[in-house]
Amino acid sequence: FKVPAPVNEPIFGYAPGTKERDLLEAALTEARSETGNIPMYIGGKPVHTETKGKVTPPHDHQHILAQYSIGNKTHVQQAIDAALAAKAKWENLAWEQRASIFLKIADLISGPYRYKLNAATMLGQSKNAYQAEIDAVCELVDFLRFNVNYMSEIYQQQPPVSPKGVWNRVEQRPLEGFVFALTPFNFTAIAANLPTSAALMGNVVVWKPADTQIYAANLLMEIFIEAGLPDGVINLIYADGPEVGEVIFNSPDFAGIHFTGSTAVFQNIWKTIGTNIHKYKTYPRIVGETGGKDFILIHGSADAEVSSTAILRGAFEYQGQKCSAASRVYIAKSIWPKIKELMLRDLATFKMGGTEDFSNFINAVIDERSFNKLSKYIDQAKAESGVEIIAGGNYDKSKGYFIEPTVLVVEDPKYTTMCEELFGPVLTVFVYDDIEFDRILEVIDTTSVYALTGAVIAQDRYAIEQATVALRNAAGNFYINDKCTGAVVGQQPFGGARGSGTNDKAGSMINLLRWVSPRTIKESF
Ligand code: NAD
Ligand code: ALA
Repeated sequence: FKVPAPVNEPIFGYAPGTKERDLLEAALTEARSETGNIPMYIGGKPVHTETKGKVTPPHDHQHILAQYSIGNKTHVQQAIDAALAAKAKWENLAWEQRASIFLKIADLISGPYRYKLNAATMLGQSKNAYQAEIDAVCELVDFLRFNVNYMSEIYQQQPPVSPKGVWNRVEQRPLEGFVFALTPFNFTAIAANLPTSAALMGNVVVWKPADTQIYAANLLMEIFIEAGLPDGVINLIYADGPEVGEVIFNSPDFAGIHFTGSTAVFQNIWKTIGTNIHKYKTYPRIVGETGGKDFILIHGSADAEVSSTAILRGAFEYQGQKCSAASRVYIAKSIWPKIKELMLRDLATFKMGGTEDFSNFINAVIDERSFNKLSKYIDQAKAESGVEIIAGGNYDKSKGYFIEPTVLVVEDPKYTTMCEELFGPVLTVFVYDDIEFDRILEVIDTTSVYALTGAVIAQDRYAIEQATVALRNAAGNFYINDKCTGAVVGQQPFGGARGSGTNDKAGSMINLLRWVSPRTIKESF
């Protein structure tokens, strides 16, 4: 069988007066007017509990969008049991049958559920319409369609050589046990991709999303079920992370984790798995995409408009809460005055507020914890002598968790905000002497404890080449004359190494191969 050649899902613009805009606004109004009651899903059945959590928009934290049921360790064990009960039938289904379910999910999201899922992401995660569209619709649909294509290539690989009298073959078995998908708040596409990519390859999954992503996760699960995903293949639970981990990582059937989130959480999970390694039937697959401290390097030969746009979009789209977001920028002294002027000109036009007003570019950060962390960094910067705040610096949490897009200029390229992941709309700039380009490359490389994304902006070919070589290990996704965000599935496979993860490139054949365990069969005649 050949599966359809995937093409990237087109991005809707939602201009005022268009049918798409009306449909999205209607979906937002409907979502805001009701208070949903969100269950967990175990064995395909909704499970409600007495213990409830609240879903509120980060930009309007007094408005309750929904209540969700919180589970306990018993529910986690039930989810594992339901997954294992579904395993034999699911893994023996022809791969084309599994593929068709995920292609149908893609069609449902690209079509009838587009506006509802976009609205859920706008409200639950405080993304503006464009950011929700490129995430919850386009990237998600691309993950599904491209993964089905990669899957078909994996199952139809050229077999090994078979001399006369022998038939050698390789069978791609799903992992022996269940896969745990643990997903972050910041991308609906990632929330969907982590459980579905493992399930696509014949695995059964227990999925726990971040609490601040439950609103979209619930809708995703409803779509999976409508598309015909059999009961128990993906089980969705909401519970305290460490409590869930205690049951999952003690289970002998734990066969792999597909994680995206912070480096600290991933490192703790890795240690726990190491401690428990003797308990498992098989060495678990550990796949994790983690934190970032992504950079943009501007050479003296750079185009100032290109540089300013790359910096502002890279740093402030979705409030700097993309793992790929630019949070440290190194700018040559000769070009800094012009870039600063352009940045301040454009920053002055950025409106901040709730997502339902489509003219707002900046929305709220995800929760109070993030707000407190970011405001503390800003206060520290205000108190330091070697730091100048050239834009922003204000914050307010009375209605929503709003942090102004803030630009710090520092004298020390190793200042804390040049090294630590802040995960918000706070950008730090270091201005270097043009003749010190070599030294700045070394500084970037040696301070890159994380290595997710990075960019160089230059017109000088020699500088581009120098940066590409010197920063080889400082970013898993490296951009030349572009911002460091916005990787597109099928075009720029995404992931980083060092503290940023296992670099198993989300939405690629490399990633799907992590969810199978090959068996070689030799038959002699
Ligand atoms: P997080 O690490 O706080 O949470 C991720 C998931 O782990 C959530 O489901 C959370 O509930 C769970 N969790 C938290 N503590 C746990 C524990 N002790 N035991 C078990 N589970 C636990 O991350 P977040 O704040 O949701 O997401 C932001 C982070 O994700 C940033 O660091 C960002 O860089 C990273 N991220 C990376 C990529 C990438 O591709 N590299 C993509 C998106 C996000
Ligand atoms: N795909 C997202 C980006 O590159 C994570 O920004």
